[in-house]
Amino acid sequence: MRLVARVPATTANLGVGFDTLGLALKLYNTFEVSDSEPDFLEINGEGMECLYNRENNIFLKALDFFYKLYNLTPPSLSIKISINIPISKGLGSSASAIVAGLMIANSLLDKGLSKEELLKYAVKLEGHPDNVSPAFFGGCTISLVSDGKVMVKKVPLPDDLSIIVAVPYFDVPTEPSRKILPDYVPLDVTVKGLARIGMFLVSLITDNLKDLPVILEDELHEPYRARFIPNYNGIKKELLSMGALGVMISGSGPSMVILTERERVEELVESVGFVLTKNNIIAKILNLDIDYEGAVLEVN
Ligand code: HSE
Repeated sequence: MRLVARVPATTANLGVGFDTLGLALKLYNTFEVSDSEPDFLEINGEGMECLYNRENNIFLKALDFFYKLYNLTPPSLSIKISINIPISKGLGSSASAIVAGLMIANSLLDKGLSKEELLKYAVKLEGHPDNVSPAFFGGCTISLVSDGKVMVKKVPLPDDLSIIVAVPYFDVPTEPSRKILPDYVPLDVTVKGLARIGMFLVSLITDNLKDLPVILEDELHEPYRARFIPNYNGIKKELLSMGALGVMISGSGPSMVILTERERVEELVESVGFVLTKNNIIAKILNLDIDYEGAVLEVN
């Protein structure tokens, strides 16, 4: 028996879609489970030693969680994890582990739950749906959690849209980055937020990107989280003036996502490097394609 789950990186919020919008990117973690050697754990990926500690290993927690649903404990397995999605950078590394853990446990126990059925458990483990939804289904997703039910819809994207991700060297853990947010927001801020997400979706669906720089202003989370990224507002302003369609904090940060028309990617990758260097931020700059497939489980 050998199972391999491959799960994409995800960027959550897309600026104006706090806790609702997410997008899957072609950068993958893989999780392999077999019965070849009991109690074997191997983790590949730079600086990932912390995952050998079972308490920190979200994949193992997700496996345990699913088995516990049936009052069972996972068998002793050989596990190989290969990490390409950087941890604590706002690119859905924990979502990838949760999705993989649930899909593998579902298959090991032969429960036959669909991705839609597994999604509600993933949301329970992650606390919000906007990374786990695109991690399961690929593409751009909008999710609704209401009365304990999770609903997800795919948002069609224009072919012309390209994504640049800047991954700073410093970390911002999700928890403090959520704690900093207000419990309540004024009605006028809520109304602007509703209009912005609606206009963003219409722009994507009708392939009309020209107003994105105006639409993609967020007041629900970015103003609070900007303080974790030196001169974030200045960086955003400068990149928009250089032709970016949108600049946003990826999930809870510190990675930044820059939206651009495909034909301008190369020029804009250079601009992002220039602007970040000017602000003394060492970052990896990636032009990542959108993943439309979502998590894949191979069973041998
Ligand atoms: N929507 C979540 C947040 C994503 O912004 O806190 C965390 O990756």
